[in-house]
Amino acid sequence: MKMFKNYLKTQRELIDLNIECYLNKLEYPNVIAEGMRYSVLNGGKRLRPTLLLMVLELYERDLSLGLPIAVAIEMIHSYSLVHDDLPALDNDDYRRGKLTTHKKFGEAEAILIGDALLTHSFSIVTDETCGVSSDKLIKIIGMISRYAGINGMIGGQMIDIESEKKKVPLETLKYIHENKTGKLIKLPVEIGAIICDATKEEYKALERYSECIGLAFQIKDDILDIEGDFQKIGKPVGSDLELEKTTYPSLFGMDKSREILKELIEDSKKSLSIFPKDKIQKFIELADYIGIRES
Ligand code: IPE
Ligand code: IPE
Ligand code: MG
Ligand code: MG
Ligand code: MG
Repeated sequence: MKMFKNYLKTQRELIDLNIECYLNKLEYPNVIAEGMRYSVLNGGKRLRPTLLLMVLELYERDLSLGLPIAVAIEMIHSYSLVHDDLPALDNDDYRRGKLTTHKKFGEAEAILIGDALLTHSFSIVTDETCGVSSDKLIKIIGMISRYAGINGMIGGQMIDIESEKKKVPLETLKYIHENKTGKLIKLPVEIGAIICDATKEEYKALERYSECIGLAFQIKDDILDIEGDFQKIGKPVGSDLELEKTTYPSLFGMDKSREILKELIEDSKKSLSIFPKDKIQKFIELADYIGIRES
């Protein structure tokens, strides 16, 4: 695991360099440009962009093919966090160990900073990507907008909010997790598969892997919201309990949630069995990392 954590650090540094390169170009209005940099360049794990780079590595492709898209996905993820933390949603004061964007810049500003991250991400995809055909790029842009919108992250976030203070069926909880979190984790994996011309069978296998780790990732997030350490997770502990959110622990308790998490991690590994073992080591390690992560 130590080696995998070093790998994550190397990828994170590469991704951060690219984020800086694109966001440092922005100047006016200063509060939006500053706020965009503040909200993205603040120590995120960069799991989603790393997944895209991992798929490119699996197919031995040049990482530069996917780096602008990887940055765009991280910007969309960061915007989702800026809005998720707003008083009207989860009302949280800390994110990635720092004040949330609305606490630092004001609420109206945070709404606009989030909007700017989302919209500007598309111009990075179109203006900065080199070596990917226009046909593929159109497919990729369509997928980004679908997975980030009503049939993806936003859909999940809406039902998450609507399900506060209620006991909802497992089916609804699954919808919430698969959409609010799962879709932005599937997105980089599927985009990688498109860029690399994965066969149908490989695509399905990667898709299944990403679905399992996406759900596992949010279950672990729910567990960390209960037993995590603020210093490590960098966001408030107990936020879900306070808002009476529907989560795996609230529906099943901690032990059963841990069991489901473990099963999903095993399923994710099995789904990649069509690839040679030595090619998918990083994917296996990433699945294990999700189970044991403390931040
Ligand atoms: C937090 O995502 C929000 C969820 C979808 C659970 P991450 O845990 O990936 O947050 P960062 O990007 O590392 O801060
Ligand atoms: C958020 O889920 C998922 C998003 C789409 C932002 P949470 O509300 O549980 O994420 P955290 O715990 O605030 O990071
Ligand atoms: Mg939330
Ligand atoms: Mg939240
Ligand atoms: Mg959470």
